[in-house]
Amino acid sequence: MPCFRPGSVWLAGAGPGDPGHLTLNVLSALSQADVIVYDALVDARVLEMANPSAERVFAGKRGGKPSFPQEDISEGLISLARANRRVLRLKGGDPFVFGRGGEEALALIEAGIPFRVLPGITSGLGGLAVASIPATMRGINQAIILATGHSADDHTELDWLTLAKLAIPVVLYMAVRTLPHITSQLMLGGLSAATPVAVIENATLADERILVSNLKDVCADVERQDVGPPALIVIGGIVSLRAALTSAIREFEQAV
Ligand SMILES: C[S@@+](CC[C@H](N)C(=O)[O-])C[C@H]1O[C@@H](n2cnc3c(N)ncnc32)[C@H](O)[C@@H]1O
Repeated sequence: MPCFRPGSVWLAGAGPGDPGHLTLNVLSALSQADVIVYDALVDARVLEMANPSAERVFAGKRGGKPSFPQEDISEGLISLARANRRVLRLKGGDPFVFGRGGEEALALIEAGIPFRVLPGITSGLGGLAVASIPATMRGINQAIILATGHSADDHTELDWLTLAKLAIPVVLYMAVRTLPHITSQLMLGGLSAATPVAVIENATLADERILVSNLKDVCADVERQDVGPPALIVIGGIVSLRAALTSAIREFEQAV
């Protein structure tokens, strides 16, 4: 395992939720860190694996709003490292997938702080696998798109009409609120209303819920079942494999 030097920052991903998906490098980082700056999606059981003397600093969102502006988090990491501490910046999933890890890395470079990146399993792939949805499947898709639904809020919005024409399965992060807009754009772009859709709430965790629907009905189903964040939305033919995979897994489990 790499040695965590005082005065450095490790940008790490804790995986999709279940602590079983932590990497060995992140486990080692937890035991070596002096201070852990963590986000809301990091499971409490992961933090329990840290060195008991490590300081824990919450830098996530409270009530949907960030506790600290991003610049303050980056500044905080820099000043903790300058105080010669081993700083573990721990995020849900992978730090470089919709996690603003890239921005923090650039701020550390600018400040001359040594850092390392420890990848984690991103929820948009690990969450799918645990939900028995293969991210790629011969005969169905040769590519997959990981996209944020958050962009529908601002001028960086994705061109959903073009995405619809590609007919490549899409995994949406942060898209529960913007789903009505995204689904209507995808249908307008030519994606069939019958396209299978899965919504995975609290992926990999004990309270995980999986809703299977289609492009036309998914918004009404989400509302009826009161599905909320954190959730992943999977749109495409790969979703239809879930039924066969889950029933086979159930049979195997009953047989043992
Ligand atoms: C700010 S992004 C962070 C993504 C993270 N870096 C990753 O690689 O998974 C937060 C979004 O990730 C998704 N997400 C993360 N963990 C999840 C989980 N356990 N269940 C469902 N969605 C999850 C949700 O879409 C959530 O709104």
